Amino acid sequence: MGKDVIVACDFPSAEKTLAFLDKFEGRKPFVKIGMELFYGAGPDIVRQIRSRGHRIFLDLKLHDIPNTVKKAMSVLRDLDVDLVNVHAAGTVRMMEAALEGLTRPDGTRPLLIAVTQLTSTDQEALEQDLWIEKPMDEVVMHYARNARKAGLDGVVCSPLEAAKVHEACGADFLTVTPGVRFADGDVGDQKRVMTPAEANRIGSDYIVVGRPVTAAEDPVAAYERCCREFIGE
Ligand code: C5P
Repeated sequence: MGKDVIVACDFPSAEKTLAFLDKFEGRKPFVKIGMELFYGAGPDIVRQIRSRGHRIFLDLKLHDIPNTVKKAMSVLRDLDVDLVNVHAAGTVRMMEAALEGLTRPDGTRPLLIAVTQLTSTDQEALEQDLWIEKPMDEVVMHYARNARKAGLDGVVCSPLEAAKVHEACGADFLTVTPGVRFADGDVGDQKRVMTPAEANRIGSDYIVVGRPVTAAEDPVAAYERCCREFIGE
């Protein structure tokens, strides 16, 4: 899998999502399905989007005891998605169990990445709520190294952390980065943002883009601009 733009389809229903994807006609963007759409529309939305030829990142961020995550992953593996994720906070053992559950009898499996720390968690919440008395960037790197140790393929991280993650975990360790905005676009509620071109320069492997594409007047043009800026096509 090379560099690509992943479109976050944060819609409440299958109808809205499929109507949005219909606009792309011949193009088949890599699609992210999150909790809202998955829980609202059910696993069938994954099959429907897959049958249209899109690659899929199923962003469900699993976090539970290792045995439960392993069993849940063995259900998800049959949905034939390309990328799924867990919380690194679930421990190395949980991530190893996730990987086991995800691996099919023939040895193939979707890629598995870990969320290090959510971008909505700031230093204060890290210390006061989670009781982790360390600088955020050290925590993120530690969790990324744990993901690597467990055999995962990469992490979700802010674009600002992508270069450091590659340094700590290797160039082949995937960095999937949300928080992407056009230079002339609305930032919305994202705090630390980068343009697609900047994300490319700092070495993100995949960018996750939601509203700059889904809320654009011409979503296809916005998606194409993203691809041009990020991968030059
Ligand atoms: O609309 P926007 O481009 O901000 O969407 C970004 C997408 O990436 C959303 O689906 C959001 O849930 C997801 N995400 C994020 N920050 C993280 C992890 C996921 O924005 N740390």
